[in-house]
Amino acid sequence: MDRKISSFLFLFVFVISALFLSYSCTPPKTEPVRPVKIADGDIDPANWGKAFPIHYDLWKKTEEPTEAGKSKYKRGFDTDKIIYDKLSEFPFLSLLFNGWGFGIEYNEPRGHAYMVIDQIDIDAGRIKAGGVCLTCKSPYATKLEKEMGIDYYKMPFKEVLAKIPEQFQKLGVACIDCHNNKDMSLNISRGFTLNAALKDMGVDSGKLTRQEMRSAVCAQCHVTYNIIKDQEMKSVGIYFPWQGSTMGKISIENIVKRVRSDPSVLEWKQNVTGYKMPFIRHPEYELFSYNSVHYKAGAACADCHMPYTKVGTYKVSNHRVTSPLKTDLRACVQCHSESPEWLRAQVESIQDRTVSLMIRSGYATATVAKLLEKVHTTQAAGKTIDTPLYDKAKDYYMEAFLRLNFIGAENSVGFHNPAEALRVLGDSLAFAGKSEALLRQALAKAGVDVPIKVDLEMNKYIEGRGEKKLKFNPSVEIKDPFGVQERF
Ligand code: HEC
Ligand code: HEC
Ligand code: HEC
Ligand code: HEC
Repeated sequence: MDRKISSFLFLFVFVISALFLSYSCTPPKTEPVRPVKIADGDIDPANWGKAFPIHYDLWKKTEEPTEAGKSKYKRGFDTDKIIYDKLSEFPFLSLLFNGWGFGIEYNEPRGHAYMVIDQIDIDAGRIKAGGVCLTCKSPYATKLEKEMGIDYYKMPFKEVLAKIPEQFQKLGVACIDCHNNKDMSLNISRGFTLNAALKDMGVDSGKLTRQEMRSAVCAQCHVTYNIIKDQEMKSVGIYFPWQGSTMGKISIENIVKRVRSDPSVLEWKQNVTGYKMPFIRHPEYELFSYNSVHYKAGAACADCHMPYTKVGTYKVSNHRVTSPLKTDLRACVQCHSESPEWLRAQVESIQDRTVSLMIRSGYATATVAKLLEKVHTTQAAGKTIDTPLYDKAKDYYMEAFLRLNFIGAENSVGFHNPAEALRVLGDSLAFAGKSEALLRQALAKAGVDVPIKVDLEMNKYIEGRGEKKLKFNPSVEIKDPFGVQERF
């Protein structure tokens, strides 16, 4: 081809594609700022909504049911009226958590609009700890903690709730929890928990980057925490067990070490073993930030749970925070070129593997709990149990329980960090297996016969849920997707 023509052609194609690219890449506008001033300390989202009505409407939408059918494991809240709760899905939890609120009622999460409403509805056993329960629920938490001091933690939940103006008592996470009213930049409102925990790791919360803040605002609540108890088992404080860890490496090993070594956070007594125990809650931030592929790739919680979405001609962060599977993985295709179907299949296969190992570690840990119970009744009947065998078995049991507790409470079913979730569950299973062997040896030494399959007496624990057992729905039980558990 003639050189001139070919370079002309090249230029032509270049100009056309540049035009096309610049057209398709013109970013849609962000919501225009209306000349409405948001007063300092204004908690009412409706007032913030006068300045940002599109954001307000999306935020309010978290009260609507989601398309539960789109998610295999996090069905949450749908119009089908089924209550998806962890105790029905994973019955071994009703054995292991029997002895306090979590063994009575433990539901899957749903939209942000429900956080306080669900707390008011839940079995009274779950809010026994007192006002401290509002810490990751109400935007009034910080204010109340400041004004009431220790009483905020220990006074009965309902009394502390009553200190909130009535029309805001049921208000969940609000604009003020995540934003600075002056310029809408991201802001940590719960200094008394998150900032303190970051400080424990030598991190100055004021120096976090914007991308780090896009996870930190969520880490105000989607983390594990411990409630400090006084001699009379009254709540007197709260902390995140991050001491000894560093940012990006909050390990399960350090968490377990911390909660096992602090007698003031043994919050409950497990009925089956009689042990006083610590507890781990929803460690989304911890699991995600521990060297996961996506954390290392620089992704933040908001990238997947609040992706940009178009509303009319505006482009806004989606404040209807929910599972990315329920929004057809639109969040993922910002970075991935694979199809939503492919991505969904990947998520499900990661979750299937996690669930399989979790069910096995769950039943293995429950079996150990029943053997410990047998050891205790054997001792009560006057027989001696080998102390070194028992002590080691108890130690391993705690390690197995807390690892199972960690992944069971983490809400992504392994997705946030697939390799780490499997590592933690693998260790749980190994500790439980070791513990079982030691207990069988100790019981044999004491002349007690233990059958191959230990009877877990599951019905006893399901009945133990009191009136809430009416909600127990065996048809939602999640089975090992690979059928391995059935052989045990
Ligand atoms: C003030 C505490 C708080 C903050 C801050 C918070 N969450 Fe939540 N989140 C909750 C609670 C509590 C629930 C469960 C509510 C229920 O079940 O009633 C929840 C539920 C969710 C759900 C499940 C929604 C559904 O449709 O089932 C997702 C996803 C989620 N949060 C992600 C995030 C992300 C991402 C951030 C940060 C941008 C964040 N959350 C910030 C407390 C919080
Ligand atoms: C790379 C994308 C990605 C990132 C980053 C991410 N998540 Fe998730 N998250 C998911 C997926 C996928 C699920 C599984 C959803 C399902 O099974 O329906 C999930 C599940 C959840 C759930 C349970 C949702 C439900 O419907 O019950 C919560 C809560 C949650 N994530 C919070 C967080 C928080 C907090 C962070 C940051 C610390 C975070 N996520 C970071 C993709 C992500
Ligand atoms: C759970 C935390 C959270 C809550 C609650 C919240 N936001 Fe946001 N908001 C975010 C995050 C994360 C971003 C993204 C910020 C960034 O990328 O710098 C954002 C961004 C914004 C922006 C900037 C434009 C955009 O869409 O990215 C506006 C305006 C905004 N939010 C308004 C509101 C209003 C109004 C409310 C209350 C009705 C609210 N937000 C509640 C977390 C929250
Ligand atoms: C901020 C960009 C970003 C977003 C958003 C994102 N990813 Fe990724 N993802 C990456 C990068 C980078 C990698 C690592 C390189 C690779 O494998 O492509 C990765 C890896 C993966 C992997 C393989 C590694 C693993 O952990 O198993 C899967 C599966 C995956 N992503 C699924 C998803 C899904 C599903 C979503 C949405 C819920 C999502 N990603 C959202 C950037 C992203």
